[in-house]
Amino acid sequence: MSVTSRYRQAWEGFWAEAPEEQGAVFWDTEPAATAGVHLALFEPHLAHPGLPVVDLGCGNGTQTRFLADRYRRVVGVDLSAAALDHARRADPAGRATYRLLDAAEPAQVRALHAELGDANVYMRGVLHQCEPEDRQPLVDALATLVGERGRAFLVELSEAARPLLLALAGSTGGPPAKLAPVLRHGIAPGEVADDAVPGHLRTAGLTVLASGELPLATTEYSADGALIELPSKWLVAGRTTG
Ligand SMILES: C[S@@+](CC[C@H](N)C(=O)[O-])C[C@H]1O[C@@H](n2cnc3c(N)ncnc32)[C@H](O)[C@@H]1O
Repeated sequence: MSVTSRYRQAWEGFWAEAPEEQGAVFWDTEPAATAGVHLALFEPHLAHPGLPVVDLGCGNGTQTRFLADRYRRVVGVDLSAAALDHARRADPAGRATYRLLDAAEPAQVRALHAELGDANVYMRGVLHQCEPEDRQPLVDALATLVGERGRAFLVELSEAARPLLLALAGSTGGPPAKLAPVLRHGIAPGEVADDAVPGHLRTAGLTVLASGELPLATTEYSADGALIELPSKWLVAGRTTG
């Protein structure tokens, strides 16, 4: 099963219009304070730190490049060709490699695993906005990519983020400038229930090894000048035999 064409077009349209400079997209935060914080939580659980790293749903690759400074082989994958164009332009030295892939499409995911072998996977902000029927296939993709030896780090907006986003979307004078294009392209953030994620992982054959909560900074400010932060949940998962 692959994602709906409506969903793919929503992302393609979003990234085709997205500005080039870092920080211009709502979630495009400074990687040292984003993937850097996540790696501090993830690395103690890596059974095999030398495995390739896959950034699943890498977007414009800001976090991918940070990962590529720390790991020998990093592959950023995304559904959107326009997102990958941004990622490649921002990485002229080719620190990471980038690949068009629909993670809800098992054959594509199996092909990547066949090429890389087991991988450690970073996935930020993909499940919470995907179509409900894509959630289990996406988590199944994590299980395929980590195989027996890899670990996955997922960080997703909590369900508590949804009312905050709705309030921002309904602000007098319209949503904050960087949130507006997300909504205009029909991308619905903060839709996944917190307790659904461990269930998807179990169904995929993965065990939750650690989890917690973190405020996830955005690049946007509210009308009173405060940086907008949204509640998020993170999990580390893998096969315990790894
Ligand atoms: C909110 S953005 C997050 C981007 C990046 N992970 C980050 O943290 O900056 C979600 C990304 O996931 C990608 N995505 C959504 N569904 C996907 C799928 N089925 N397969 C691959 N990528 C997907 C979208 O194209 C988009 O670039």
